[in-house]
Parts: sequence; structure tokens; C-alpha cells
Amino acid sequence: SDLNVPLEYLDGNIAHISDPGRIVASVPTIRALAGAGAKVIVTAHLGRPDGKPDPKLSLAPVGAALGELLGQHVQVAGDVVGTDALARAEGLTDGDVLLLENIRFDPRETSKDDAQRLALAQELAELVSGPTGTGGAFVSDGFGVVHRKQASVYDVATLLPHYAGGLVAAEVEVLRVLTASTERPYAVVLGGSKVSDKLAVIESLATKADSLVIGGGMCFTFLA
Ligand code: 3PG
Repeated sequence: SDLNVPLEYLDGNIAHISDPGRIVASVPTIRALAGAGAKVIVTAHLGRPDGKPDPKLSLAPVGAALGELLGQHVQVAGDVVGTDALARAEGLTDGDVLLLENIRFDPRETSKDDAQRLALAQELAELVSGPTGTGGAFVSDGFGVVHRKQASVYDVATLLPHYAGGLVAAEVEVLRVLTASTERPYAVVLGGSKVSDKLAVIESLATKADSLVIGGGMCFTFLA
């Protein structure tokens, strides 16, 4: 899932999640899987911790918010694929939800080295498949991160049966409409802060839309 939500800090401690939108958007797929009796292990990142644990970027508060929205307890592992994650994964019963600690605490997640990423993906796959190494599947539902070539996004899909989650499926349908729209006039409104990621999108939409309206943090780049 993409649970990369904005956090507000107070006196150096996490105060609260200022926009839980991505958690809310992740709930239906997790609920559907847990409701169908799956043992659900959620991996996600928070911020860019540079491959090492950073208490300020722990997913613990996100796990608490996810639990509230789901209406069921969500365990949060104290590590990514370490002894705590393994013990908790082995203890899951049908319908339980376990959130692993920030996947980017492990430097292999974002490594440019294919072998390193694959090694982490293998450990994730083993968490899901259990000691017998059978069963388990990967559901890709982190739409906001799905363009990243990272262990929990890309490599794990090479090891397990893999499916698009409900959120990814819905977003792909939105993109299909956005890129195929023939109704005129056609105006596109874009926001966000990561301009570099969006340039290719803007270039593509600029050839299709009559007008592009750019807001959010991105607008300052264009004003400059
Ligand atoms: C986002 O916030 O854009 C996504 O969660 C991806 O995060 P990233 O830009 O740090 O890879």
C-alpha cells in the first residue's frame, strides 16, 4: 500500500497525520482481503529515511490510524523482515492484518543493485509464503508508489503470484479516461509537489488537453 501520508511534528514528536487520504484509499482492498479470510501483511514506506531506521518515520502511528479506519486491530512489526516481523507473520490467523515497519528502513528496498533488491523481495515473499514456502500472493495496491522500481513494488511481483489491488485498478481506469477523453473542451487540473515525477505526465497530457491548470507546490517551479 502507499501509506506515505504527511505527518505534523510537535516538539520533535509525531503530532498527527494531517491528511489521512492515502490510508483511507488503502482500506477497501485490505478490508476485502481480510474479510475473505486472508492473513494480510501490508508493506509501505513513509518518507525517505535513507535506508536506516528513523523513529520519526516509523509507521506505528499510521498503523493505529489504519486500524481505526478498518475497525480492527492492526499489528505493527518493530522491523521490516526481522525477527519481530517473522514472529508476528507466523502468529497471524485468518483475517488478521499486520503492517511491517517502514520498508525504506531497509537499504535494499531502494537499491539500484538488482541482486540486493531481489534479496529483500525474497525475504518478503518468505514472510507471506510461510515456512513451507507455499501459498501467498502479492497484491499491488500502492498506486502512488507503483512507478518505483523497488523491492516491495517491483521485485516481489517476480516471485509471487501477483494482482492489481482495487485502488490500482480504479486509478488505471481513471488514467484510461484521462488519456482517451475525446470530449471538448478538455481541461486538466494538476497539483502536488514532486515536479520531476510529473513532467512526463504533463508533457503527455499537454498533447491531449485544451488547457492545463497547475496548482499545489508545483506551481512555484513554473512561476520561477
Ligand atoms: C509519493 O508520495 O509520491 C509516493 O508515496 C512515492 O514516494 P517517493 O517519491 O518517496 O518514492
